Amino acid sequence: MFDLTNKRIWVAGHRGMVGRAVVRALADEPCEVLTVDRQSCDLTRQSEVESWMADNKPDAIILCAARVGGILANDTYPADFIYDNLMIESHIIAAAHQQKTEKLLFLGSSCIYPKMASQPISEQALLTGDLEPTNEWYAIAKIAGIKLCQAYRKQHGCDFISAMPTNLYGPYDNFDLQSSHVIPALMRKCHEAKISGSESMEVWGSGKVMREFLHVDDCAAGIIYLLKHYSDHEHVNLGTGEDVTITQLVETIQHVVGFDGTLRFDTSKPDGTPRKLLDVSKINQLGWTHTTSLAQGLTDTYQWFLDNQISKS
Ligand SMILES: NC(=O)c1ccc[n+]([C@@H]2O[C@H](COP(=O)([O-])OP(=O)(O)OC[C@H]3O[C@@H](n4cnc5c(N)ncnc54)[C@H](OP(=O)(O)O)[C@@H]3O)[C@@H](O)[C@H]2O)c1
Repeated sequence: MFDLTNKRIWVAGHRGMVGRAVVRALADEPCEVLTVDRQSCDLTRQSEVESWMADNKPDAIILCAARVGGILANDTYPADFIYDNLMIESHIIAAAHQQKTEKLLFLGSSCIYPKMASQPISEQALLTGDLEPTNEWYAIAKIAGIKLCQAYRKQHGCDFISAMPTNLYGPYDNFDLQSSHVIPALMRKCHEAKISGSESMEVWGSGKVMREFLHVDDCAAGIIYLLKHYSDHEHVNLGTGEDVTITQLVETIQHVVGFDGTLRFDTSKPDGTPRKLLDVSKINQLGWTHTTSLAQGLTDTYQWFLDNQISKS
């Protein structure tokens, strides 16, 4: 058990969707939260990371910083995705070892798993097959992050662990239709269809593929649970273990938004992999499970969207 009392915890990437949720969750813990902006410490620059770490000496680090983006961004900027992510994680993990940081949690993503992994995807599926080619640059960097934590544990006895969250949604998600993930994209489209009085709304793909979604506040709770209670070599999946079809997802969003028009499925758009569900039996056995239902999480997220995106646009 890692006791957070009076600990100084650096949330790297505190301005991102996950980092903000972790900072919100740590407000309920008896610890001090450390943060640093990119202008003061560019995490791709080793000297800046080493200098900030030497000055601040956190007791623990939650590594939420990363270059993150959708398929288009990954495909357009593969060098930036692999280089920035390798640098950010290498600099922070090596500096954590130099400064004798007691605990570090590295955050990856479910894209580390092979494209054709059997479902639900267990932790052991790592490196058993080919990756999805569209985001392999990002995935390779994230796999290297897991391996860095394992190598520092093996060689130096560092208590560095890794968590792999499924698809996330919630406050501070990206609602830009050009670059957003499925939930904010569908929520925005649905909202705009309602406001404009449309009779129907377009949905990309067949609606038949299945996806798992975790509210970002549940993700933050799971991260803090692992920080406190987990100390081992293998990474841990972080999800709900439940999935829905895209059609079920859109219907729930329609209900939340209050749009009762019909759905037009554009089957000329790609569906992607038919199913992607994490096996969460490991984290469940460790004693943690998610608490926010998809309907409740979508309701909260729509309210956040109305309060923060619509009222300010
Ligand atoms: N979002 C999801 O659905 C999802 C799902 C699974 C896993 N994850 C994982 O969760 C982690 C966080 O994702 P997120 O959605 O919160 O991403 P995000 O909103 O894009 O936040 C990323 C954070 O990293 C910081 N950052 C990036 N490059 C930096 C640099 N060179 N120097 C300093 N700071 C830098 C950003 O700072 P600025 O604010 O200055 O840009 C930002 O605060 C990632 O590892 C991702 O793989 C996310």
